[in-house]
Amino acid sequence: MIKKMAAGNWKMNGMLDSLKEIERLQAAHSNSKIDIVICPPAPLLLPARKKAPDLLIGAQDCHQEVSGAHTGDVSASLLKDVGAAAVIIGHSERRQAHAESSALIKEKATAALNAGLTAIICIGETLEQRQAEETLPVLKDQLEKSLPETATAQNTVVAYEPVWAIGTGLVAEPAQIGEAHRFCRAQITKQLGAKAANMRLLYGGSVKAANAAEIFKIDCVDGALVGGASLRFEDFSPIIEALETA
Ligand code: PGA
Repeated sequence: MIKKMAAGNWKMNGMLDSLKEIERLQAAHSNSKIDIVICPPAPLLLPARKKAPDLLIGAQDCHQEVSGAHTGDVSASLLKDVGAAAVIIGHSERRQAHAESSALIKEKATAALNAGLTAIICIGETLEQRQAEETLPVLKDQLEKSLPETATAQNTVVAYEPVWAIGTGLVAEPAQIGEAHRFCRAQITKQLGAKAANMRLLYGGSVKAANAAEIFKIDCVDGALVGGASLRFEDFSPIIEALETA
């Protein structure tokens, strides 16, 4: 049985006061059978960990080096030290705004795994690539170049997030999600072997309470990476419930 995962990516949103949302999630979902991961901005990791001992706390990025002269960056081992269990790597906003290549993402994911964190590695095509029917070759290339050889179903999660569906209100069609997820499952198994055959595959891109149940029915979808709808308890809790009962 694959343990499902609902991950909330707060991006650059939230203040100390937002920890009350995490407190409410902890109260409502402390005995969940799925993994619930909250990824707030880095300064909130430690207080979030204290508020929610039964949920998993994740970061949104890490540096590829263990330590050193890298002003403004945070190491994977420090994330682990302050209580993070996971880290999002290679989100399309970082691939685009910070020019992160798949090669760099692989280095960051390797650093995360070496520090004992679960790496949530994001992949996904742009609208131009989809319109040019390049979606599957793009996903194959990103998987081949971004996933460390040491990735297994236990230490790594892949999030398929079509770039055109992120923060836009546009959700991929169930057939598009199913095709991409089945392709990723096959490619990851081909690439890494049986140890990765059950790697969790999350869908991300405008997931909301209203569409979550339908998305969770799709073959090879093991959960979701949720942006906007993870910020408030009222929005995220029903998505978690939909996954718990899927
Ligand atoms: P969204 O973001 O749910 O707001 O579309 C998803 C993501 O970027 O992870």
